[in-house]
Amino acid sequence: MDYETIAETTAFLQATLGPLPDVAVILGSGLGDFAEGLADATSWPYDTVPHWPTSAVVGHAGRMVVGRVGDRRVLALSGRSHFYEGHSMDRTTFATRVLGHLGIKVLIVTNAAGGINRRFSSGALMIIDDHLNFMGTNPLVGANDARFGPRFPDMSEVYSARLRGLAGDVAQEMGLALERGVYVAVHGPSYETPAEIRAFRALGADAVGMSTVPEAIVARHMGLEVLGLSCITNMAAGVLPQPLVHDEVMATARRVRGGFIALLEGIIGRL
Ligand code: HPA
Repeated sequence: MDYETIAETTAFLQATLGPLPDVAVILGSGLGDFAEGLADATSWPYDTVPHWPTSAVVGHAGRMVVGRVGDRRVLALSGRSHFYEGHSMDRTTFATRVLGHLGIKVLIVTNAAGGINRRFSSGALMIIDDHLNFMGTNPLVGANDARFGPRFPDMSEVYSARLRGLAGDVAQEMGLALERGVYVAVHGPSYETPAEIRAFRALGADAVGMSTVPEAIVARHMGLEVLGLSCITNMAAGVLPQPLVHDEVMATARRVRGGFIALLEGIIGRL
């Protein structure tokens, strides 16, 4: 996305949101409730923000909310643009570009994912340690604008070791089981075949989903510190003798949202 468009949206938000939030959270499928719990919250539907892409997927509301967790100011994005909707990579990562341009330092990206690791079970929460990009493209393809970041950004620590450690500590103190592993991003929107899941397992993946990686790459391009959290909403194709349905994804996300929100709030309180 060109610099001027990003700058226009950023200027709108600077005039609208008030002081710069300490952290931004991108909320995955069925996890939008986190935004409801923010103290002193104000929200803006995406279609009131200049150039902001809207999402039509069931389970993705489409609004930004500013509020507080304790004394931390939080910007929550409830609803995201997915590559599988037909958005370009530029549109898919537009929100992240604006967050970076605003000056947000810490980005928490959440998603619903299928469990590849057989030790996982549906409803588990996972810290993303690293990712495999199987989307078939990269959000940084094309001319590089050095005002955003370098042509060849380092990806050796996409998901901050500091924040992963903090998330683990917070979960342990809460007595909340937290898995960790590698997230493989696919294009979608069809779910994977059992053969694809076996291949991803052999490659070292623990969970699979259709988001997060474009945002994480763009965030690192701009130097943000990133934490990725997956909610394992279902076991991936072929792991269990049953078909995958989006309703199960949404139902599991609803079932575990209490623990998920408590974890997020605990992490933000300790940033
Ligand atoms: N595969 C891909 N994306 C997903 C899945 C899955 O099994 N579950 C939730 N998002």
